Amino acid sequence: MKKEIAKGIYSVGVSDWNIRNFHGYLTKLGSSYNSYLVVDDKITLIDTVKAPFAEELLDRISEIVEPEKIDYLICNHVEMDHSGSMPKVMERAKNATIITTATAQKELALHYDTSSWKYQIVKSGDSIKIGQHTYDFVLTPMVHWPDNMVTYNEEEKILFSNDAFGQHIAHSEIFADELPMDYVLQQAKMYYANIVMPYSTQVISALTTASKLDIKMIAPSHGMVFRKDLDKILSLYDKWSHCRVNKKAVIVYDSMWHSTEKMAESIAKAFEDKGYCFKIFDLKQNHISEVMTDCLDAEYICVGSPTLNKNILPTVASFLTYLQGLITKGRKGILFGSYGWAGLNMKYMQRYFDESYIETVLTINDNFVPTENRLKEITNIVKEKI
Ligand code: FEO
Repeated sequence: MKKEIAKGIYSVGVSDWNIRNFHGYLTKLGSSYNSYLVVDDKITLIDTVKAPFAEELLDRISEIVEPEKIDYLICNHVEMDHSGSMPKVMERAKNATIITTATAQKELALHYDTSSWKYQIVKSGDSIKIGQHTYDFVLTPMVHWPDNMVTYNEEEKILFSNDAFGQHIAHSEIFADELPMDYVLQQAKMYYANIVMPYSTQVISALTTASKLDIKMIAPSHGMVFRKDLDKILSLYDKWSHCRVNKKAVIVYDSMWHSTEKMAESIAKAFEDKGYCFKIFDLKQNHISEVMTDCLDAEYICVGSPTLNKNILPTVASFLTYLQGLITKGRKGILFGSYGWAGLNMKYMQRYFDESYIETVLTINDNFVPTENRLKEITNIVKEKI
């Protein structure tokens, strides 16, 4: 994946072709850990890669310059998919100075033996001239951890954005425009929904700062580099971070004997009649991270489960746990399901909705099997509420 993305600036990161589970996120396309090497009279490495790929990173660097010659290592983020190879790099680049945030310095010491590492600590607004290049630093705490920052190269107008604007795609190409743009943006959407969404307030703040920079290229630490049509990814981040939803409903459920499934279809009919676009997900067939991607721009999230043993089906509990951790304010919800002798499903699901700040506009809980007439009635009840 070594490639010169601008004069003297090389992509030296690695693709992780076979990773399929990234902390619960189904990464069907694998991922990449992007690292960038800047070569002029000083050598700078921007971020590293996950630990198992350290030798591959060092090999890629060695094709351009001996790793021992690295003068500076910019650490934008401590999470181990980006810092995991720092110990191996620092073993080789013994004289390198790490440029990072004060928070990151503390966190790195909680991950690795950093006793011999030299640091230059930066804060927002700081600039450092290294060789022919000037780097501006903007702290972006909680996009994705407290330590995060982004680095802007003034001469080439490149924003090294780390997790922000990433996509989980393993790739041999470098630039987003080498692939169909819709494909890349769909992966960026999945990434935002499953990783970045809880930090949307901080994203808004970071975008405000970024809007003051003249950015010609966005080089994230996962997936493709954006060098064309930057307005597309920037406007999507603006939309997603401000929770600008579409006229859309996500209807997600699991069912034991098809009652909850039939109710899901009745609810979908209501949205169809009212001109909404909608998607139905049976959690036996769909992964929670794919459902989450559609929740990102949905006005309504409708969740259904029957009662099972004083509780709900584990597939739905898993989804609700995941949803609760990720979703931001601004969505409406419907809870639905069926029960035999104890309608405890609603109580359980309501707690998740309340803690997810989803405004519950309707709950529908039917005893055993809804009749055809009842299913039509459910459609009408939902139509009156939405
Ligand atoms: Fe890609 Fe927060 O690490």
